[in-house]
Amino acid sequence: MRLKDKVAIITGAANGIGFTAAETFAKEGAKVAMADFNVEQGEKRAEELRRKGYEVTFFQVNVAQRTSVDEMVAKVRETYGNISILINNAGITKDGMLSKLPTEDFQAVLDVNLTGVFHCTQAVLPSMLEIGKGRIINTSSVSGVYGNIGQTNYAATKAGVVGMTKTWAKELGRKGINVNAVAPGFIETGMTAKVPERILDQMKQMVPLARLGKPEDIANAYLFLASDESNYVNGTVLHVDGGIMM
Ligand code: NAI
Repeated sequence: MRLKDKVAIITGAANGIGFTAAETFAKEGAKVAMADFNVEQGEKRAEELRRKGYEVTFFQVNVAQRTSVDEMVAKVRETYGNISILINNAGITKDGMLSKLPTEDFQAVLDVNLTGVFHCTQAVLPSMLEIGKGRIINTSSVSGVYGNIGQTNYAATKAGVVGMTKTWAKELGRKGINVNAVAPGFIETGMTAKVPERILDQMKQMVPLARLGKPEDIANAYLFLASDESNYVNGTVLHVDGGIMM
């Protein structure tokens, strides 16, 4: 029970990595706010976890919209009290080569993956300051650290997340709040299901562990950074990518 009675918000928890993280955190005793854009899927998956006896509630949010984020955070505080863990996991892709990438697709990815992280973190901050402690975990990507063909927008956001992580680690450390990031490699979720089989095979060949990652590989990294085991870890980017780039 590494997260006993801690209140955690996980964005993008209706699917993929976020959903697995919700289950992992709930199993460790956390009260989990599963925050996602997709109401139908989110409600269904929250119910699935409640049937297993876990303390989880679904909250609808569009992280790109400040008012939506403020409303979600207020509802979580009403339901569970002060928030001690925020996992900024929601993210989208709209891939395209630079020569053809529409400005709207560039901006849409920034709105969710970068501005969304800023909105959620700023919105939970008063709650963490009130209790004098907190954990903020952002989700970068191998694409943000090393670049990736066809991902101008996505790579920009995931590199930006690293900059925000380090800035907040410096700003908030003295307030008892640790801020870190996880940089996943290629993980088997709906996001990579869009990638053609041929490209996925090429990706696997690049990974020293010779496989794609699983959502639980990332959920366990989130868990480490949310638990007391990482008390002295701050401002780091934890690469969970099978050693794809070294
Ligand atoms: P996914 O596509 O399976 O799930 C993302 C979730 O975010 C969905 O439930 C979706 O409804 C939600 N979401 C999207 N826009 C939202 C918004 N505006 N407000 C609230 N929720 C929203 O994605 P996956 O693979 O689980 O990714 C999770 C995180 O990990 C993302 O930040 C992604 O960029 C990152 N990541 C994933 C990798 C992969 O290979 N799957 C690799 C590197 C990073």
